[in-house]
Amino acid sequence: MNKTAKIEIDGKSYTFPVVEGSEGECGIDISTLRQVTGCITLDDGYANTGSCLSKVTFIDGEKGILQYRGIPIEELAQNSTFVETAFLIINGHLPSEDEMAKFSSQLTQFQNLHEDMKFHFEGFPSNAHPMAILSSMINATSCFYPQVMQPYDPETFQIMSSRLLSQVRTIAAFSYRKSHGLPIIYPKPSYKYTQNFLHMMFSDPYEDFVIKPEVWRALDLIFLLHADHEQNCSTATVRYVASSRANLFACAAAGVCALWGPLHGGANQAVIDMLEDIRQGGDDGRKFINEVKDKKSGKRLMGFGHRVYKNYDPRAKIIKKRCDQLLEVLKINDPLLDIAKRLEECALNDSYFIERKLYPNVDFYSGIIMRALGIPVEMFTVIFAIGRMPGWIANYREIAEETSQRIYRPRQIYTGLTKNPYVPMEDRVSKP
Ligand code: ACO
Repeated sequence: MNKTAKIEIDGKSYTFPVVEGSEGECGIDISTLRQVTGCITLDDGYANTGSCLSKVTFIDGEKGILQYRGIPIEELAQNSTFVETAFLIINGHLPSEDEMAKFSSQLTQFQNLHEDMKFHFEGFPSNAHPMAILSSMINATSCFYPQVMQPYDPETFQIMSSRLLSQVRTIAAFSYRKSHGLPIIYPKPSYKYTQNFLHMMFSDPYEDFVIKPEVWRALDLIFLLHADHEQNCSTATVRYVASSRANLFACAAAGVCALWGPLHGGANQAVIDMLEDIRQGGDDGRKFINEVKDKKSGKRLMGFGHRVYKNYDPRAKIIKKRCDQLLEVLKINDPLLDIAKRLEECALNDSYFIERKLYPNVDFYSGIIMRALGIPVEMFTVIFAIGRMPGWIANYREIAEETSQRIYRPRQIYTGLTKNPYVPMEDRVSKP
């Protein structure tokens, strides 16, 4: 029998259907709530709101489970690559050999930006944050490929989404070169996705950067682990913008902006800043933990806590292991890693963190890996954005293919002034 839920308002009872997902999650479908009761729901930060049905990613935050298209993240991290996983997320199945070859060759074919786009980079100040450049340049891409603004059709989407996935790393690398006053390095068709990104970041016009396998594999893993995470702030933003039928590049640019904040993708940069402050202050971490617990300090343990995970973030487990391995292979002794481990140990044994179910999230150790790879701190969130692109594209696709999809338009409970008459300028009393 189908489950239902009853809501009682002023003694009157209303029945609503309960929708069940393929992993047993249930949601009360209140689509007709306002129509039949006159009321709306109020849900601070949308913590209890399911905004869509989606087939892309499943998370069980209590158990620490993450699956892309049903495949556990641990299996993908062990066996797949970022590009294969991107295909899976966007298309819903692992690629056959032919599909993989076609997808790879499209990513290579689209890797160069339109040559005129290069001039846009010149206009940014040299200290511009690369996330600002990234969002602007992704948005600007629609000027060069206006077909993206046509109503959705699968063939154009396939080309445009491959172009976006390929060019996001070219734009990202160009923005880094620009902000460091370095000459732009063009992509090389002989390199695969992640090698090519490292090449464009670190090669010189006269000398190619030597790409060690453990280095590109570690970065590829970081991309893969960030590839999707259901309705997080940036993906929900992409869906929001897509619901107005804005084009794919505009939606992805909006996703980059949402990702930028320190409570979301900007946390990986904030973690390193925090660890560096602790190191420079000569603290072994304990003083900082006490400051965090004292809410008056306004400090948070960055890289800890998650809206969905109330258990160890499975991505953090994978990253922590790879971080140890990489630093050993590269013979790097990073004092920030020691501080991070001490903070983690303190926090995991402290009632403040235990009671609130605060565990390390994906950002806690990813910054230390990126530091070891030579990626500057201001590029950390850009790396996240490259990784998250398949998830944004897949979520855009779900919206675009759903013809009955309505524009996202929440309501509000108004708490402002009422019956406030317009006062002419000469009668207004100035406030001190
Ligand atoms: N350090 C200290 N206390 C924390 C932390 C933290 N990192 N995170 C949450 N808390 C506390 C809050 O102060 C609150 O305490 P209270 O109940 O006494 O008021 C309680 O835990 C619940 O916190 P909320 O802010 O309500 O949790 P929310 O789900 O809204 O926020 C978030 C989740 C934003 C990730 C939060 O945990 C945080 O700010 N973490 C640090 C930033 C970070 O690492 N962000 C990356 C997230 S992962 C990602 O985007 C890829």
